[in-house]
Amino acid sequence: MFLMWLLGLGPLLFCISASADNLTFHIGSVTGILEDLEYHLKGPPDLTMTELFQELECCQSELCQLFLGPVTSVSSDLPYLSEQQIIFLKHLVNHKVDGSLVEHGVVLTPDGTTVSFSPLLAGIAAGFKRRHETTLLDTPLITDPSNSSNVELHLALDPLYATTIAMDLGKAFLLFHTKQTQVALGPNGCWDSISAPQKFTLMGPPSHIPDAFINGAMDGFILGTYLAAKADPISNISSLLNDYYGGEGLEGESQIRSNFRQQNFEALVSKEKLRKQVEISLHLLWRLNETSPFFEGITSEELMFLANQAVEEFMALFVECPAIIPRCMWGARPYRGTPTQLKLPLAFVYIHHTHTPAKPCRTFASCAADMRSMQRFHQDVRGWDDIGYSFVVGGDGYMYQGRGWHWVGAHTKGYNSKGYGISFIGDYMKVLPDAVDLELVKNNFMQCAVRGAKLQANYTVYGHRQMGHTLCPGDRLFQEIETWKGFKRRCFMDNGVHRCI
Ligand SMILES: *[C@@H]1O[C@H](CO)[C@@H](O)[C@H](O)[C@H]1NC(C)=O
Ligand SMILES: *[C@@H]1O[C@H](CO)[C@@H](O)[C@H](O)[C@H]1NC(C)=O
Ligand SMILES: *[C@@H]1O[C@H](CO)[C@@H](O)[C@H](O)[C@H]1NC(C)=O
Ligand SMILES: *[C@@H]1O[C@H](CO)[C@@H](O)[C@H](O)[C@H]1NC(C)=O
Repeated sequence: MFLMWLLGLGPLLFCISASADNLTFHIGSVTGILEDLEYHLKGPPDLTMTELFQELECCQSELCQLFLGPVTSVSSDLPYLSEQQIIFLKHLVNHKVDGSLVEHGVVLTPDGTTVSFSPLLAGIAAGFKRRHETTLLDTPLITDPSNSSNVELHLALDPLYATTIAMDLGKAFLLFHTKQTQVALGPNGCWDSISAPQKFTLMGPPSHIPDAFINGAMDGFILGTYLAAKADPISNISSLLNDYYGGEGLEGESQIRSNFRQQNFEALVSKEKLRKQVEISLHLLWRLNETSPFFEGITSEELMFLANQAVEEFMALFVECPAIIPRCMWGARPYRGTPTQLKLPLAFVYIHHTHTPAKPCRTFASCAADMRSMQRFHQDVRGWDDIGYSFVVGGDGYMYQGRGWHWVGAHTKGYNSKGYGISFIGDYMKVLPDAVDLELVKNNFMQCAVRGAKLQANYTVYGHRQMGHTLCPGDRLFQEIETWKGFKRRCFMDNGVHRCI
């Protein structure tokens, strides 16, 4: 993206831009190409990696060479990929946002999220590289980056952190700080088509690292860590990506799949280490670009401050806050009429279950279909303006945007403007939603909403049955939320009877 030209700091993996023919921007196109390459190469996966880096002519920059330089040098000059495949991949490793807010270098994955290819590839390469290091030295600690040599700075950077998230997170906050971008992180975007994705358009002004870049960086970090630590080498990269994005999860680690990227990233990353890595990355960029106007008048303390701020905000927005699948991704119809704005922060959260559908959905395709059918029912049969709920919890690790943070819903008669209505897909009279989905609401959603000033810190949680004549959210789920922070008993008149529950 053009801001990086100004700064003179290209992305780590940089290739010449090219237009991709008729391959769709789906991760399946990438794994298809990798399968072709692996079939012809018949070598270990690190050879695939080397071949890929050479074919794509990425990683020519000093920093990329330093961190990801070839792990094996045995490579032939035979072209294994077609012209079209190479053009497609070259387009993908060149992450940028153009003037019409179209984000390039990203692919749609089966879980309904979008990832940037270059930090993903970098993380995988860093994982292979670490695997080959004979002695696993932890990166040396440096206390005062401004008094360290360039070599010391290089050595203090962990390639897995630096190439996936640390370097670009630092740049993102530097560009925001110097007012080159309106936002520091995000945003998400929408595809022109889910079945044949070609164009991904952002929902607002871009930061240096939109959501898709962050997703790719987290996936790169998770896959790189997995590869570096795994006892037996994997047989090929295409099956690694297929298992992670579309399958049952990685071999021996079924929870390691893209749907749980936030949970897995949180479990693997050290926040303290990330903070230091971002700070050192910024120092190194400064050192390599002392004349750049973006560093003019900057001090060592300011870089430390920027790194702290970057990590705090990144962790809050992308690790603590639940990932929410936006309306455009599940194929929502437009709102009917004029929505009413909520007065934030709200004081209440009302918990529901959908009852119908009675079973939680496990894939993006089925959750999106459930969302569409609920919206149809609420609009066409109930006669409401839109799907009633503020947010819906799928059984696939994601939350789905209903009316969202800002608009009054139709979930809890008489109280719609007082609180958010959150519904779990399924029937929870006798069983509970999965622990990971409960956690998503109980902790992630609540903390995120309070931090974002959407919800008061002293919020109250009620089950739908406490607000009117209904069994919602089911006996078993109601029992569960009775244990949640913020839950309160309530007395009310139900069909002329005074009840306290
Ligand atoms: C630093 O800036 C110079 C000139 O703008 C550029 O050529 C160089 O690639 C930059 N260094 C890095 C590490 O990006
Ligand atoms: C791409 O286009 C070529 C010819 O224009 C066609 O032969 C090929 O089948 C197409 N591939 C896909 C995946 O649509
Ligand atoms: C990749 O690995 C998987 C699982 O180990 C295997 O089934 C598949 O045949 C391999 N593909 C290639 C091209 O080697
Ligand atoms: C909750 O906090 C708000 C201020 O943030 C205050 O106005 C309100 O009275 C508090 N409510 C309760 C029930 O303590």
